[in-house]
Amino acid sequence: MSGPALAFHLNGKPVVTATVPTRRLSDLLREDLGQTGTKVGCDAGDCGACTVLLDGAAVCACMVPAGQVSGRHVETVEGLANGNGAGDDAELSGLQASFLRHDAAQCGICTPGMLMAAAALLRSKPKPTAEEVEQALAGVLCRCTGYRKIIDAVCDAWRGPENTNGQPGDGPVGGPTSGPVSGTAIGARLQRVDGVPKVDGSSRFGADSRSGDTLVVLPVRSPHHSADFDFGDLEAWKDATDGVAAIFTAADIPGRNCFGVIPPFADQPALAVGRARFRGEAVALVAVEAECVHAIDLAGFPVVWRENQALLGVAAAKADGAPLVHEARAGNFLTEGLVRQGDIDAAFADAAFTVSGRVQTGFIEHAYIEPEAGDAWMDGDVLVIRACTQAPVMDRDDTAAILGLAQDKVRIIPAATGGGFGSKLDVSLQPLLGLVTLRTGRPSRMVYTRSDSMASTTKRHPASIEARFAADAEGRVIAMDFAGDFDTGAYASWGPTVANRVPVHATGPYRTGAMRAVGRAIHTNGPPSGAFRGFGVPQAAIAQETLYDKLADAAGLDRLAFRIRNAYVDGDRTATGQVLHGVGIRDCLEALEGHWQRARAEARAFNADKKRGIDKKRGVGVASCWYGCGNTSLPNPSTIRVGIKADGTLVLHQGATDIGQGANTVISQICADALGLPVAAFTLVGGDTHLTPDAGKTSASRQTYVTGKAAELAGKALRAAILRHANVDGEAVLSLEGGTLNVNGEGTRSIDLKSLAPDAGGFVFVAEETYDPPTAPLDENGQGKPYAVYGYGAQMVELEVDVPLGTVRLIRIVAAHDVGRAINPMLAEGQIEGGIAQGIGLAMMEEFEPGRTENLHDYLIPTIGDVPPVESILIEKPDPEGPYGAKGLGEHVLIPTAPAILNAIRDATGAEVTRLPALPHRVRAAIEAARALADAGALDPKSQTQEAQP
Ligand code: FES
Ligand code: FES
Repeated sequence: MSGPALAFHLNGKPVVTATVPTRRLSDLLREDLGQTGTKVGCDAGDCGACTVLLDGAAVCACMVPAGQVSGRHVETVEGLANGNGAGDDAELSGLQASFLRHDAAQCGICTPGMLMAAAALLRSKPKPTAEEVEQALAGVLCRCTGYRKIIDAVCDAWRGPENTNGQPGDGPVGGPTSGPVSGTAIGARLQRVDGVPKVDGSSRFGADSRSGDTLVVLPVRSPHHSADFDFGDLEAWKDATDGVAAIFTAADIPGRNCFGVIPPFADQPALAVGRARFRGEAVALVAVEAECVHAIDLAGFPVVWRENQALLGVAAAKADGAPLVHEARAGNFLTEGLVRQGDIDAAFADAAFTVSGRVQTGFIEHAYIEPEAGDAWMDGDVLVIRACTQAPVMDRDDTAAILGLAQDKVRIIPAATGGGFGSKLDVSLQPLLGLVTLRTGRPSRMVYTRSDSMASTTKRHPASIEARFAADAEGRVIAMDFAGDFDTGAYASWGPTVANRVPVHATGPYRTGAMRAVGRAIHTNGPPSGAFRGFGVPQAAIAQETLYDKLADAAGLDRLAFRIRNAYVDGDRTATGQVLHGVGIRDCLEALEGHWQRARAEARAFNADKKRGIDKKRGVGVASCWYGCGNTSLPNPSTIRVGIKADGTLVLHQGATDIGQGANTVISQICADALGLPVAAFTLVGGDTHLTPDAGKTSASRQTYVTGKAAELAGKALRAAILRHANVDGEAVLSLEGGTLNVNGEGTRSIDLKSLAPDAGGFVFVAEETYDPPTAPLDENGQGKPYAVYGYGAQMVELEVDVPLGTVRLIRIVAAHDVGRAINPMLAEGQIEGGIAQGIGLAMMEEFEPGRTENLHDYLIPTIGDVPPVESILIEKPDPEGPYGAKGLGEHVLIPTAPAILNAIRDATGAEVTRLPALPHRVRAAIEAARALADAGALDPKSQTQEAQP
């Protein structure tokens, strides 16, 4: 962007450029100066991802006009490493090395901002306290880590860069090169194999790449929840607007204008046709010359809207006479899932104790720090799309169908992905980019604004749940009855999955006797509800676990002991009739016992201390989870290819997208030990749909288990092929030295790899294996084997409630999770801490309201000050099916947090918060309601009811 000359210092070097003085510094750095290490998550001063140093002080570059840096010094993440340059041989700074050592960067999109804010602190405080770090980093949001490892990393940065690769016994982790001994990868706290680009600013996210002559794609979106529309004179507007190269509407789509993650339910158009069903739905695309994009004003785009009655909330959608969101779906009913066994009426009639209640939750936004972004170009007759994603093969298939192309004419290259948590499973901008590039033949680029991202992408399903439970005189749960309505929004997305997964999990990890559980997906004019860490199970667990506390109270039992009494053990049958093996829930609950007794005693002492007055009350809460890993009763395969080339390069084709959860590292660790070569020997090839076999989508906690199992099988198959060739027994030790593969068994054989004939892929030894979990369909009563492997967990929350204000301060969380086998304990802890942070948001602050909270200052997510210290306890109860006994973890970790918080609030004050999030006014109202009930006389201790709150 031309303008007056601007001179300043960037990372110690003089820069002279020409730009408009009012332009954002972040834009200048990224677009003109190529410093894409500085990230943009909001362009509004809310997320801190763009933090840079201006004369040594941390500032949000998106809020600094470029003209203000004239004559001053700007530092970005690219300047942190000694040598001032990402991608060269610069040595990482002590701070960057510490981030790697502590696994403080998961997806990495917030990491440059975190590093720069921390760098400013460390210059004045080389050994800061945790409190000082919290204050210094308060303006930078992270959605992945839960912040605790970031705090540890900054506090530990003084150790310097020499520990980058980790020395045994010095620092908490080993690096990828510190484990040269074969067979020691599993269980090691290895640094991420892809960690360095996350801390040196060289990771290429969707918004970081572009080619020359690129068209920028801008979407025109519905401002209404429901509206019919017509376009005016598009050609005239195009001709009258400088820089507009083309306009596209649904009429330009050459294929099937419909996509969806579950093909039988696919219903969402890439561009709406005549009717927009939710606010934020795209109806047209404007392709703009890059240099003109800042001058484009879409307010004048020729579209006429006729607003319709909007259905917001399930109650409106189910009301008599409600309009239909989709003509073919009567009653706005999408689908339902059911699990039932036994005679619940007889069981409730026989019960010694019963409880019932209602719970209501709202839309939850994923709020990854990276808004959707990507670019596209033609490579011959192949359309190439590079974008953030959790599911490259699903993106390819949907995009090809929409554009009327054969699948092999679309290539998806996953960009580094700055968080997903389920929402980046559905296609977003891929077909839109594809349409522009296919129609114009030119490269295109699309970067969602924060409001684009929040308005148009999927959300966690709002839930309205009613449930009742019964127990016998000994406190054993003998019956449950559960019904949940889930607001699936305007399109199906993952609604069928939620409707089916919830009933299977509704019991929690407990023996339940007779039960009936129904999950219904209902259409509204809300944003499409999709996948979000847990697929509805977190909402169900809130109902089940809060009622469990009341049932324990009714039975006169300690709440933790009550759970242990009812917890599943090996050999138990679930409500679907499946026999369980490798069950670790009791171990998790028992691991909390000491903490529970200590915390309960401390809370009692605090509350009894008369000197403190009655304004503050402390409470302790506990809740559990279980979660089936992978698709529900559906095929779910992953394929891994691993091979050795003639020059000795060991290549792992690992198609499981790593969105920060660590799949690249964990799957490498599994494959390394199965093969018998060190992790450091592997070269990774990611989920490029033209290069790498399908490892399925990154969702449902399936990658460590399913793709990990495929990696185990592939590693073992490659090893077997090598040993066969060498005619050496199975205990042989392998080592690679350039083009020589040594096989040391009873004798030693050195294989000259160059002497072997390579296959078409260049491999002289190669193996490819597929694993598909053994599941079985559910019958009409929900009986069957929906998942091959389950994971388990339990969490305990200590908190303090300010009674007059209704505010809640978290003190500590202890989390015990059965991971089967901790492939990488450090990464597992990171998953736990990050999941807990999202659970805190669900419980205490997050509620997306279409049209009102489409930014990160009205939609609040936990900051570094909102996540208390977390103690993780890893339980290893091996699963007979999982790779080396491993189970999934990613979804599980969020599930118990919210109910444990609600149980702790009730423990402290008696308040039953049944409408989430537990905002201060709701907590306050619940406290008043509890007092009123107490004043009105004792509740029947054997039968209690909790009502949903407004
Ligand atoms: S991009 Fe600048 S604060 Fe979010
Ligand atoms: S690592 Fe912080 S947002 Fe992903």
